[in-house]
Amino acid sequence: MMSRHAAFVLLLAFGAVFQLSCGIEVNVTKEDKLCLYANLMLNFSVSYEVADNKNQTAVFELPANATADGSACDNTTSMLKLDFEGHSWSMTFTTDGKNYQAAIVTFSYNLSDSKLFPNSVSNETKTVIVKPQMKDVGIDTCYSCHSKDTIEADSVNMTLWNVLIQAFVINGSKSENLTICEADTPMTTVAPTTAPRPTSTTPAPTLPTPTTGKYSYKPDENSTACLLANFGLRIGVKQGDKLEEMNFEPNGTQISGSCGLNSSELKLVSSSITIEFTFTNDTKKFRLHALNVTGKTSSGLMFTEANNNMSLWEATLGSSYMCNKEQNFTIASLVTIYTFNVQVQPFGVKKGLFSTAHECSLDDTSILIPIIVGAALAGLILIVVIAYVIGRRKTYVGYQTL
Ligand SMILES: *[C@@H]1O[C@H](CO)[C@@H](O)[C@H](O)[C@H]1NC(C)=O
Ligand SMILES: *[C@@H]1O[C@H](CO)[C@@H](O)[C@H](O)[C@H]1NC(C)=O
Ligand SMILES: *[C@@H]1O[C@H](CO)[C@@H](O)[C@H](O)[C@H]1NC(C)=O
Ligand SMILES: *[C@@H]1O[C@H](CO)[C@@H](O)[C@H](O)[C@H]1NC(C)=O
Ligand SMILES: *[C@@H]1O[C@H](CO)[C@@H](O)[C@H](O)[C@H]1NC(C)=O
Ligand SMILES: *[C@@H]1O[C@H](CO)[C@@H](O)[C@H](O)[C@H]1NC(C)=O
Ligand SMILES: *[C@@H]1O[C@H](CO)[C@@H](O)[C@H](O)[C@H]1NC(C)=O
Ligand SMILES: *[C@@H]1O[C@H](CO)[C@@H](O)[C@H](O)[C@H]1NC(C)=O
Ligand SMILES: *[C@@H]1O[C@H](CO)[C@@H](O)[C@H](O)[C@H]1NC(C)=O
Ligand SMILES: *[C@@H]1O[C@H](CO)[C@@H](O)[C@H](O)[C@H]1NC(C)=O
Ligand SMILES: *[C@@H]1O[C@H](CO)[C@@H](O)[C@H](O)[C@H]1NC(C)=O
Ligand SMILES: *[C@@H]1O[C@H](CO)[C@@H](O)[C@H](O)[C@H]1NC(C)=O
Repeated sequence: MMSRHAAFVLLLAFGAVFQLSCGIEVNVTKEDKLCLYANLMLNFSVSYEVADNKNQTAVFELPANATADGSACDNTTSMLKLDFEGHSWSMTFTTDGKNYQAAIVTFSYNLSDSKLFPNSVSNETKTVIVKPQMKDVGIDTCYSCHSKDTIEADSVNMTLWNVLIQAFVINGSKSENLTICEADTPMTTVAPTTAPRPTSTTPAPTLPTPTTGKYSYKPDENSTACLLANFGLRIGVKQGDKLEEMNFEPNGTQISGSCGLNSSELKLVSSSITIEFTFTNDTKKFRLHALNVTGKTSSGLMFTEANNNMSLWEATLGSSYMCNKEQNFTIASLVTIYTFNVQVQPFGVKKGLFSTAHECSLDDTSILIPIIVGAALAGLILIVVIAYVIGRRKTYVGYQTL
């Protein structure tokens, strides 16, 4: 145990030398005493709009001459704030006295900076806010992570590596004890951390199958429903390489929507999630064409993602779409929906009841596959037999002419 600890300290010494050559090192002081120490490397990848509705991606590094004047320490919160050329990146930490964690990362970038964002259509300053993964770091330890950790936000990816941070320095001197991030720890060995190890190695408990909600929309109280939808819904939100999942609770959900000839909508609002389904009618079939999910996970991460170019839940107009199997769909990059026991009919609902159901192919592929394979094999045998018969005939004819 002791020698292993030494090895990690050595590694840190090496890392520090390496980092000094090209990362950024920050000493934040309060009353002339060190209160926050940070040494890290940071890359940005920002997608922004240029002419013709196109997006371009700018990739740049945090410049070494960024300033940390906006950083501050308090008893229970501290902030590392790095400003460069009118842009600013900050990480806020909180502590309960025993451990500390990174609470939020904020990145504000000014699209009028034509050096970083050439040909940007917008000249606004945009701000993204995300919750990073650093947590359960022992109070008198430095958080150390050499591995790359990408924090994904709307249109922005921030990659941190060679990170060494002590967000709450005690008595003005940086601790030599480390809390090593999981990505740096080999799977088979247990790192000698002084803080409790993050619990994320144990897989999140699997959620029960979500309750199937029965939603119907009627344009006014005296008419029958014009849109019917039954399904159980789970939402998964990716945070770095972790996935946070939650079941949508149908009880207490507010339902609104619209029924049109070419487009129908269903909007569900629960206490933590708002989801909007847009269905379209393309004369013969209907399909789920757009989805917009906005919400907050139990850990407080706000998310929103939309996609308006989908083709899910497709069935002939006048029928309903049904799928009992679990299905999943990733809306853009971070938010995935899982659906269970689906039956929907967004157009042509009669007497408030579902019409005949068109079953999803998922439900019967297990039967279809052997049938297809069998048919293919039968076809192959037939071809061989025919080829053989033709071959025989040809030879026979050949002999005759000789
Ligand atoms: C931060 O403080 C350490 C220890 O006092 C010192 O070696 C280092 O040069 C300082 N770094 C900066 C950027 O001021
Ligand atoms: C961020 O990373 C994800 C996953 O690697 C990628 O799909 C996305 O395009 C990236 N976004 C930007 C702005 O680089
Ligand atoms: C450009 O990015 C915006 C916002 O991220 C997105 O809504 C839009 O679909 C993107 N456009 C293209 C052409 O990728
Ligand atoms: C920081 O460095 C960049 C070049 O890397 C330079 O253009 C910029 O003026 C510098 N900013 C400050 C505040 O020194
Ligand atoms: C912070 O802690 C110091 C010493 O423990 C105490 O004197 C001070 O009142 C605290 N400040 C706040 C805002 O709690
Ligand atoms: C920013 O863009 C708006 C509209 O595109 C324009 O009216 C305004 O003058 C621009 N501001 C600057 C500082 O370029
Ligand atoms: C490291 O942690 C151990 C156990 O918590 C403690 O005894 C020791 O003083 C710490 N060392 C430093 C340099 O902070
Ligand atoms: C619904 O019907 C009731 C009784 O027939 C009537 O009083 C009410 O105005 C109707 N509401 C609407 C929105 O038509
Ligand atoms: C739905 O919520 C209400 C109050 O919020 C509660 O009384 C009721 O039992 C709940 N029903 C189910 C099926 O959970
Ligand atoms: C679907 O659209 C077609 C033409 O756009 C229209 O004739 C038809 O009535 C629509 N079907 C339903 C069920 O609204
Ligand atoms: C998605 O919904 C949110 C909240 O309802 C809204 O602010 C946002 O504009 C919607 N996005 C799209 C692409 O419809
Ligand atoms: C999503 O569904 C596909 C089959 O359509 C399945 O292979 C995959 O494992 C599912 N993904 C998740 C995360 O459940």
